[in-house]
Amino acid sequence: MTDSAAERRQLAATLARDGALTSPGMRAAVEAVPRELFLLPGVFLDEGRAWRPVTASGTDQDTWLGLAYSLDTLTTQLDGHLTADHADGPVAGVPTSSSTDPATVVGMIENLEAQPGNQVLEIGTGTGYSAALMCHILGEDNVTTVEVDPAVAGRADAALESAGYSTWTVTGDGLLGHPRRAPYDRVIATCAARRIPYAWVRQTRPGGVILCTIGSWAYGTGLAKVVVREDGTAEGEFAGRSSFMQARAQAVEPVAGDLSARTAYADSERACRTNPTALEEWMPAFLAQLAAPGAQYVRAVGGDGTPLRYLFDPERESFAEFVAGGDGGWVVRQGGPVALWDVVEESLVAWRDAGEPDITAVRVHITASTHTYQIADRPALRWRHVLG
Ligand SMILES: C[S@@+](CC[C@H](N)C(=O)[O-])C[C@H]1O[C@@H](n2cnc3c(N)ncnc32)[C@H](O)[C@@H]1O
Repeated sequence: MTDSAAERRQLAATLARDGALTSPGMRAAVEAVPRELFLLPGVFLDEGRAWRPVTASGTDQDTWLGLAYSLDTLTTQLDGHLTADHADGPVAGVPTSSSTDPATVVGMIENLEAQPGNQVLEIGTGTGYSAALMCHILGEDNVTTVEVDPAVAGRADAALESAGYSTWTVTGDGLLGHPRRAPYDRVIATCAARRIPYAWVRQTRPGGVILCTIGSWAYGTGLAKVVVREDGTAEGEFAGRSSFMQARAQAVEPVAGDLSARTAYADSERACRTNPTALEEWMPAFLAQLAAPGAQYVRAVGGDGTPLRYLFDPERESFAEFVAGGDGGWVVRQGGPVALWDVVEESLVAWRDAGEPDITAVRVHITASTHTYQIADRPALRWRHVLG
């Protein structure tokens, strides 16, 4: 095995200097776990329009360790199947598994505030690196990790074994949790979910913590930290902005191509009070997902070069089409059972009136059938999502 002790110490020192790593236990874990083992057979580097495969076996040791101990997220799988050893050269594709950047990984684990002896359930094993760090801190018998992709799970299991951790790696849909090893004291998701599955609440002890990125857009998503209560509900706040790949079972098929058939019949048309391009900013995008869960934001250009923006909710067959006017204003055409822009714009206006609080001001309350989000005590900044 390559000796990467110096690189591990350097990574831990950098993360501590940057404030991402604060506890001695976490520092010892980063210094002990060789990240390079978890990246086999290789990674894809982002070259803008393509992904360049780099394998451990096809790269000299210094370059490989330089990559492994960079502060970057390293993509290890594209399109649900492709690994770097099966790509001949740069390829297009969508990342479907990765080793998340170390600052985010250690920050999330510290945020979990796991205590000695706690049982932790991780959703999204990926490479296994984050599971290995938790095994080092808590002991391998106290970590259960679930990965939906069998090939990814197999590689992670092998990497964990070779790093010396015989932990509980499970192949399956982590949105269902893993009842066989419940109850847990902590649940940590390293993929994003549209909502926290109630199965996780059921499988967590009262007083236990669940940490999960909520949202279905690539941005405008937040890290919810909730505590499970004796009465079977869970309550908490958003610890901050956070971005992760979508949980596969919930991944939203992007709306693309010719959109004219979807927007042919509008029920109303009016001037916008708020510029819809606000939805390209993080917090308005987060609010839009609270106000209109299931909606997607789409950017396009009309045949004559006019900028077009849309909100679509494919499940509720509703749309809002925004057309830029020459005067800098926008007109919205809305169709379908839900006037998407009416509800989103109302939330955006209320949020501006409240002084534009950030995501850390949002609280969430979870029951078996509802997620209720709330900012301060303002009725206009309360969103109740009912399941089913
Ligand atoms: C960002 S990666 C995880 C990073 C990982 N913790 C690490 O340290 O390398 C997200 C992983 O979540 C997995 N995933 C997606 N949906 C899932 C689901 N429903 N259940 C379990 N795992 C899922 C993906 O296959 C992917 O491997």
